[in-house]
Amino acid sequence: MSSLQLNTEPINPTIPRHVAIIMDGNGRWANRRGHARFFGHVRGTERVREIVEEAIQLGVDALTLYAFSTENWKRPEDELSILWKLLLKHLKREREHMQKNNVRLRVMGEVDRLPAEVQRQVAVTMDMLSANTGLVVTFAVSYGSRREITASAKKIAQAVASGGLRVDEIDENAVAKYLWTADMQDLADVDLLIRTSGEMRISNFLLWQSAYAELEFVDECWPDFTRERFRDVIVKYGKRERRYGGIQK
Ligand code: IPE
Ligand code: IPE
Ligand code: MG
Repeated sequence: MSSLQLNTEPINPTIPRHVAIIMDGNGRWANRRGHARFFGHVRGTERVREIVEEAIQLGVDALTLYAFSTENWKRPEDELSILWKLLLKHLKREREHMQKNNVRLRVMGEVDRLPAEVQRQVAVTMDMLSANTGLVVTFAVSYGSRREITASAKKIAQAVASGGLRVDEIDENAVAKYLWTADMQDLADVDLLIRTSGEMRISNFLLWQSAYAELEFVDECWPDFTRERFRDVIVKYGKRERRYGGIQK
């Protein structure tokens, strides 16, 4: 992936530059209402537009949405096929909206494992939005942080073996250049990581990039996560002191 052109406007420290969301709880949301799990995925997919709009309003630069993990492949075939249909529908439906809103799209993960038509529509949509300069929206699909770090270790080993990289050149910045977020440059580090549905775990999401992220676990399931709730979480973030191992100011 070629590197993104990034904004160089002054940074407002109360607004996170990179927000990552684990969109969890679709199945439970539906089951609690007496519906099949797929209905939760339908409603969950519909939530995305509102959160993208709010991220733009708030001045967030990058929004990374965990849509499907490397572990989610173990789900039943019928659930997988619904998820791919919804992703396709979302791409086709939201393309124009993203274009109007100057959004860029990234898809991060093992894209080559996705059904061919999904791969095709991902490519078409990313291409259509590639000249935009606003919010960077990333869908993490068939994404797993361990898979990503393992792939980067392999690439680093290959670079050393071929003479393109010296062992003493491998520092944290060098490692970051081999991760799937390399094209995001200084936007790659997550400022705020949100998980919906009350679960308090990371589930293999952006382990390296979230090293110093502020974490927020909200009880609402993803289909109930409104723009107002999103705004509340951002306001709370703005009141936190990020010390990065230093001492209180
Ligand atoms: C998140 O909701 C969406 C995906 C993982 C694809 P879930 O499907 O995990 O819903 P719960 O957590 O089982 O309620
Ligand atoms: C994490 O949710 C992945 C996504 C939201 C896409 P899961 O529902 O798959 O995670 P676990 O199984 O609760 O850890
Ligand atoms: Mg879940």
